[in-house]
Amino acid sequence: MQNAIGKPFFNIFAKLFLLQMSTYILGIESSCDDTSAAVLKDTVVLSNVIANQDVHKTYGGVVPELASRAHQQNIIPVVEVALRKANIGKNQLSAVAFTRGPGLLGSLLVGTSFAKSFAMGLNIPMIEVDHLKAHILSHFIADSGSQSPPVFPYLCLTVSGGHTQIVRVESPETMEIIGHTIDDAAGEAFDKAAKIMGLPYPGGPEIDKLAKIGNPKAFAFSEPNIGGLDYSFSGLKTAFLYFLRDQLKKDDDFIENNKADLAASIQSTIINILLKKLKIAAQQTGIRHIAIAGGVSANSGLRLAMQKTAEELRWDIYLPKLQYSTDNAAMIAVAGYFKYLNQDFASQDLTPYSRSTNK
Ligand code: KG4
Ligand code: ZN
Repeated sequence: MQNAIGKPFFNIFAKLFLLQMSTYILGIESSCDDTSAAVLKDTVVLSNVIANQDVHKTYGGVVPELASRAHQQNIIPVVEVALRKANIGKNQLSAVAFTRGPGLLGSLLVGTSFAKSFAMGLNIPMIEVDHLKAHILSHFIADSGSQSPPVFPYLCLTVSGGHTQIVRVESPETMEIIGHTIDDAAGEAFDKAAKIMGLPYPGGPEIDKLAKIGNPKAFAFSEPNIGGLDYSFSGLKTAFLYFLRDQLKKDDDFIENNKADLAASIQSTIINILLKKLKIAAQQTGIRHIAIAGGVSANSGLRLAMQKTAEELRWDIYLPKLQYSTDNAAMIAVAGYFKYLNQDFASQDLTPYSRSTNK
């Protein structure tokens, strides 16, 4: 039996030993509507395969039941392609890392069950990964031309379809949420605004495209007045809906005639809201290393605004490559790699979780 002093020493030696060896991790992501598998050699991406589910486009949003079925269809082929592209055999894998949550339960069950059987079949450890932490650690994915990873401690604005958070990141293991949305997420604000305008799902990229040719000052929408570092986006969605309803009473073609300006105006409002709190967070914590992550971090307006703010406030900023902004398994594998170094493995009886305690 190990005593309290022995264990940390053992861990340090184990970690140093593991750092000398190459680790091959298979990552599995199935939390929403993308089935993804990736293979990483330590933090270097050997493959990152994503199967998108077009089936949801017809419905204007993700249909959970259809998502789980599509994961069930896609998971084996996606893993096979990921291994082939990485040019390694199953037996070379050191561990399998998978998203445990948060996300759609049916979708998570497919990835979790796959990981359990795969790990058991190969007699390798499995590693549970929190989807949001993986977005935050996506900056450590090493890829050709990728930026050097953030310096600890850094702040990460995590902006996805289901979450909006400012996180203080001390290390891959230690993170603290210092601000979060009290209602909708930033991605939801993009998607809902797009839906109101009759644009296809997912709306974020559509708004982004239109905004590039629109005037961001054409229409003004009031910003929420929420205390501390928290966010709120549900009021903006309602304001946008009512504004369009009133304009449509006067002009049936109002949306069609003002598409680009509407997109640019709603996008710039969302970005202003996001950056306002991020600036306060940087000022309060004194941290100047600032990252963004999650699907909305692919937004070209947000990236530009981050660059401008960085010049103004002398921040060092970290913008993920586009393929690692939206959901992908490489980020699951890299988060798994850090846990592997700590020999932090999951047990076969775990179950997925659909919600995190904070939004
Ligand atoms: O991280 P993610 O792929 O999945 C979740 O974990 O939710 O984020 C998806 C969200 C969607 O709301 C989508 O509309 C948004 O990211 N998104 C964007 C852009 N690309 C994806 N929002 C604004 N601009 C984009 N270019
Ligand atoms: Zn995500």
